[in-house]
Amino acid sequence: MLQSDVIIIGSGLAALSAAYHLCHQKKVTIITKSSWKESNSMLAQGGIAAAISEKDSWQSHYSDTLVAGCNHNNDEAVEKLVQNGITEILEWFHKGLQLDCDEEGNLCLGKEGAHEHHRIVHAGGDATGREITKFIYNLIKQSVTIVENEMAVQLLINNGSCYGVMTKKETGEIKKYIAAKTIIATGGCGAVYGHTSNAAVITGDGIAMAYRAGAEIADMEFIQFHPTMLYLDGACVGLVSEAVRGEGAYLVNQFDERIMQNVHPQEDLAPRDVVSRTIFYEMKKGNQVFLNISPIKQFETRFPSITALCREHHFDINSGKIPVAPGMHFLMGGIQTNDVGETSIKNLFAVGEAACTGVHGANRLASNSLLEGLVFGRRLAFHLVNAPFEIPFHHDETDLENISEITFVLPTKEEIQSIMSTFVGITRTEEELAHAAKWLENYKDSSSFWQFNVKNFTISEIEIINMLTVGWLITTSAMMRSESRGGHFRVDYPLCDDSNWLKRQLVRIKEEMQ
Ligand code: SIN
Repeated sequence: MLQSDVIIIGSGLAALSAAYHLCHQKKVTIITKSSWKESNSMLAQGGIAAAISEKDSWQSHYSDTLVAGCNHNNDEAVEKLVQNGITEILEWFHKGLQLDCDEEGNLCLGKEGAHEHHRIVHAGGDATGREITKFIYNLIKQSVTIVENEMAVQLLINNGSCYGVMTKKETGEIKKYIAAKTIIATGGCGAVYGHTSNAAVITGDGIAMAYRAGAEIADMEFIQFHPTMLYLDGACVGLVSEAVRGEGAYLVNQFDERIMQNVHPQEDLAPRDVVSRTIFYEMKKGNQVFLNISPIKQFETRFPSITALCREHHFDINSGKIPVAPGMHFLMGGIQTNDVGETSIKNLFAVGEAACTGVHGANRLASNSLLEGLVFGRRLAFHLVNAPFEIPFHHDETDLENISEITFVLPTKEEIQSIMSTFVGITRTEEELAHAAKWLENYKDSSSFWQFNVKNFTISEIEIINMLTVGWLITTSAMMRSESRGGHFRVDYPLCDDSNWLKRQLVRIKEEMQ
């Protein structure tokens, strides 16, 4: 049994931000199921939003966040995000983070969808997530224990309080890590869908594990589909940042018709749900959709990662039109927390995309996710530095012996992705959701609620169980919300229904475990 003050599960920016602010005062262990580099943060292209420009204000960033979030946001969390965000970025910059600057040394500020001002700081052109994640990792790597290639599979809970986590290796070896405080920072659940911008490892593990432990889960129906993934031979193979549209690119079909005209006043820079739905309908008509990048001079210099992605897939950007399709990008819901990361389980915390503070409402504003990781990672760390640390309860016996076994044959990941993409995708109906729920519930033993003995399953099988669990949470939440808002679009209830779904009305799921 290995003991720390704080265990952080996951290695993206929220995890590293929390670790950075904790590691000089607490013994911190980061546990990640593959390499520390395998995170959505490392893949994030566009940048980080902050009202740095003199022409800008936090109030404007606040109001853009609420408008994109369809007023489903937790206002106080948004206020903290946008106010703290300015100093957060400037502090990292002054610590030596290389952000892109003009010749006079001023930060370059890009523009993305639904932002009133140019406020997106970026690094390495379109490699912002990679640059900042590596920068913080290098600062903490000597002070934190980093455990790679171990998957957190089961939270250790006693008397309603979390005292650590059980992990599993590919070899089948199981270990227990004991800590006074456990933080889930495992990101969202992109792999639940067929087309996604997420890293393949993002299978909803932290959310499923917290749900199994009895934590409250909220807002799972709100899924953001990024409008522009590079789409080749029927597959989405990587992200084409919204910053590309911010620099003047626009969406056309194969007849060169601009598809965003007359759809929304912000046209190609409308909120992501609007753009993704428009592309989805266009493709449903049998049309192809392209990003016309011809207005962008020196595309290769401004967007080196996207250029490299296209080259890797033998797509010639000199054609001027990149074929695109929407893909699952971000989960607005997750483990319900307050703005210092506390969950409904004592000593269990969540941060970043795995958490649902309500900061993103029903649809996240572009470039607010790395910011969320930095700001809320720091807030959680500061909260823990000042919190009482009790010696954790030690429980040496196997905690899973009495759990009834899963008796059915698990589906494949591809089967789950196909059901979720077809029936719980960009648009949804009662009938489609009911079909998906029924399919998913074939794999939900009514007495076990996906409780299982981790000893008997491989890592890949546990990922499948996690994907089923998260898919079911998304589907049942989507069935409950009989309106459309942001990342949840019901064809049978196409409008926002404020009279029945008052501001910040949560769909919160918590089942008592037997
Ligand atoms: C992008 O670069 O388009 C993605 C950034 C984000 O999701 O905020």
